[in-house]
Amino acid sequence: MTRLANAVTLLGAGTQGSRLAYMWSRLGKPVYLVDKSSSQLTQASSAVHDMRERNPPEREGKLIRLDTDNMEKALRNSWLTIECIPEDLQRKRAVIKELDTRTDPETIIATNSSSYPISDIVKGLSLKADDRLVNLHAFWPPETQALEIMGTEKTRPDIIPLLMKETQRHGFMPFHVKKHSTGYMFNRIWAAIKRETLLVLEEGIATPKEVDQICKAVLKTPLGPCEQMDIAGLDVILDIEKHYAQERSGIPEGPRRLLKEMVGQGNLGVKSGSGFFKYNNSVKT
Ligand SMILES: NC(=O)c1ccc[n+]([C@@H]2O[C@H](COP(=O)([O-])OP(=O)(O)OC[C@H]3O[C@@H](n4cnc5c(N)ncnc54)[C@H](O)[C@@H]3O)[C@@H](O)[C@H]2O)c1
Repeated sequence: MTRLANAVTLLGAGTQGSRLAYMWSRLGKPVYLVDKSSSQLTQASSAVHDMRERNPPEREGKLIRLDTDNMEKALRNSWLTIECIPEDLQRKRAVIKELDTRTDPETIIATNSSSYPISDIVKGLSLKADDRLVNLHAFWPPETQALEIMGTEKTRPDIIPLLMKETQRHGFMPFHVKKHSTGYMFNRIWAAIKRETLLVLEEGIATPKEVDQICKAVLKTPLGPCEQMDIAGLDVILDIEKHYAQERSGIPEGPRRLLKEMVGQGNLGVKSGSGFFKYNNSVKT
């Protein structure tokens, strides 16, 4: 890594890429936003602009938009590269391999994946430098600043403290996940809440409305688990639960059974107009 490498490259300028671009540029450092879709790059710039209007940063770092074919300069000038492409294992493997080949061995390579530990993404790949790989899992910045950082057994010892410091400086609330963990810290806890909620519903113990009411009353959360699952999309929740069931034994089938039935009937949550509840233009009715 050269001394001039003070930028961050975000590969994938979708929902997360644009949010991360706002965060990593908020102290005045340049951010490269790289995507294969030029319309996505335009949308991402406008999303960053809106975030800057709503939450004016200390300084506005330069946003440099690049097509994937022209990302050489971005990689040369970045101390950190984060892939934010869709949650598809094969595509992520290809992208991480490319980043490994095309970056200086000192450049940190991170994935923002919600469910794949980086060690699983690179399994079987022959890499130039496998001591600079990390998961850097953001939630919904800038509104939700929590961020989970998880290295591999080979991650260089200086990388985690550096990322803890830099993410905090840029307004994240970082947590170090100290061992390999599918679902990191929070998603595992949230998975357990979702799973038991689905079992309670499947067994006919309570209705979605009652489950949400009691959770909101006791846990003091603005939304209940059924409302939150409807927002995320029940098809997405089903995929996540299937992934946990592949990884671990003893995951009950009831939650997947209920979700499959609902998804099969077209009840995907807010995006389809009905899930546990009914929606009109994304508003609960
Ligand atoms: N959406 C969330 O709330 C959320 C939260 C935490 C983590 N994540 C994770 O972040 C990652 C990205 O999710 P998202 O919701 O931002 O996805 P998204 O679909 O909104 O954006 C993905 C972007 O990647 C681009 N892309 C695809 N292949 C590419 C390639 N080879 N090179 C460059 N760009 C490419 C697409 O054009 C698109 O703009 C996923 O791994 C997801 O699990 C998402």
